[in-house]
Amino acid sequence: MIEAKDSNQLFSRSLELPCGAVLKNRLVKSAMSDSLADGEGSPTQAQVRLYERWTEGGVALSIIGEVQADPRFPEKPGNLVLGKHSNLEMLRKLTTRASINGAHIWPQIGHAGALSHAPISLPTGPSALEIGSFQCAGMSITEVKQLPDTYAKAALMAKEVGFTGIQIHAGHGFLLSQFLSPLFNHRNDQYGGSIEARCRIIVEVIDKVRRAVGTSFPIGIKINSTDQLEGGLTQDDALEAIRILNQTSIDLIELSGGTYFPGAKSSSDSSGAGPYFVDFSKKAQQVTSIPIVVTGGFKTRTQAMDSLISGAVDMVGIARAMVLNPSLANDWLTNTGADPVFPRFETAPSGGITAWYTMRLTALGNDAESSFALCLPSAIRLYEERDELRCHKWRKKFSS
Ligand SMILES: Cc1cc2nc3c(=O)[nH]c(=O)nc-3n(C[C@H](O)[C@H](O)[C@H](O)COP(=O)(O)O)c2cc1C
Repeated sequence: MIEAKDSNQLFSRSLELPCGAVLKNRLVKSAMSDSLADGEGSPTQAQVRLYERWTEGGVALSIIGEVQADPRFPEKPGNLVLGKHSNLEMLRKLTTRASINGAHIWPQIGHAGALSHAPISLPTGPSALEIGSFQCAGMSITEVKQLPDTYAKAALMAKEVGFTGIQIHAGHGFLLSQFLSPLFNHRNDQYGGSIEARCRIIVEVIDKVRRAVGTSFPIGIKINSTDQLEGGLTQDDALEAIRILNQTSIDLIELSGGTYFPGAKSSSDSSGAGPYFVDFSKKAQQVTSIPIVVTGGFKTRTQAMDSLISGAVDMVGIARAMVLNPSLANDWLTNTGADPVFPRFETAPSGGITAWYTMRLTALGNDAESSFALCLPSAIRLYEERDELRCHKWRKKFSS
C-alpha cells in the first residue's frame, strides 16, 4: 500500500521496466485502433498529429492499436502495417513526433486471426470453426511455426523506425488471444489443450522478438483477465498464463478483458461503472513480479489514484477518457481540470460506441474536436463507409 500523502507524486513517479527502460510517469494511453492509416498500411499526417497530441498531453507511454505484422490478417483496413510495403519516412515522422517530451511510443503488434477483416482477408484462427454465422479457417502447423518470425520481423522494423518498445497483442479475441481460448483453440498438437500448451506460441513469439530487438528494448503484452465469453479464457487460466509470462522476458503486462467476437462483450463498448480489472490485478500480482498496467473503465482521477494507492496496479491504462481529453495525463498529473464528461448513448448497436470514439480520434488528429458533433448513427455510418473505401486500396496494395 502506497501512502497518499502527495497524490500528484503517485502519478508522476517514474517506473523502471525489467529491461532498464524508464517510463516517466504512471499514465498510459492504451492501444486504440485509430483507423487513421492510409488504407495501404502507412501513417497519415492526421495520425502523426494524433500521437503528438497525446505526447504533448503528458502520457508516459502511448500505444498504437492493431499494427499488423502480416497484411493478410488485419483487424481493419485503417491499420498500420510493419513490413516490406511500409512507408519508412512516414513511420519515422510518426515516432519522432510521438516521442517528444521523453514519452514512449509503442506499436501494438497484432494479427487478427479468426477476426481478421473478412472483406480483405481469409479469417484464419488456431482451428477451423463454424459457430452460427461465424466461420474461420484453421492454421497448419507450418503457419503456426512461422508466427514467431513474423512478429520478430515486425518488432525489429519497429525498433529501426524509432519506436521505443513494442506491445504484443494477446487480448480481446485476436490471434494470440484465440490461442489462449478453448473456444477458438481446438488443436491437438503442442499448441492446444492445457493452458501451458495454449500459451506456448505466445512464449515462442516473445523469445523470438527478444532475440530480434535485444535485451534493453521494452516488450509488453496485452492479455485478457477473462474473455467474458462462454467457453473462452477463464480467470483461472488467465492467472496461469500470467504465471507463465513471469518466466519470460516481458517488461510490462497490460490487463484487459472481453472480446470482439460477434455479439460478445468488449471493454471499449462497455458503459458499466469501472475500473474493471483492478481486483484481478491483485491476484495477478501473486504470480508475477512484472509491472502491471490495468486498462478499462477509468473515468476519474480519483479512480486512477485509488488504484495506484492500493498498490494493485503499477500503471493506469486509459483509452476512451484520453479520446475525450488528449491532455488528460497533464490534467491528472497537475491535478487541474475536471474529469472528462462521457457521452451517454441511449441505445447502441454492438460496436457502435467504439465506432463513435474512432470517429472522434479522426477529429483529434485533425485538431477539429471542438466542432465534432456526430450522433451515434452518423458516426457508425461514416466509420463503415470509410472502411469500405479503404478496402479497395488495401486489396490493390497487398494483393501480391
Ligand atoms: C476506438 C477504440 C479502439 C480500440 N482499439 C483497440 C486496439 O486496437 N487494441 C486494443 O488492445 N484495445 C483496443 N481498444 C480497447 C482499449 O484499449 C481499452 O482496453 C478499452 O477501451 C477499455 O478502456 P477504457 O475504458 O479506458 O476505454 C479500443 C478502444 C476504443 C475506444
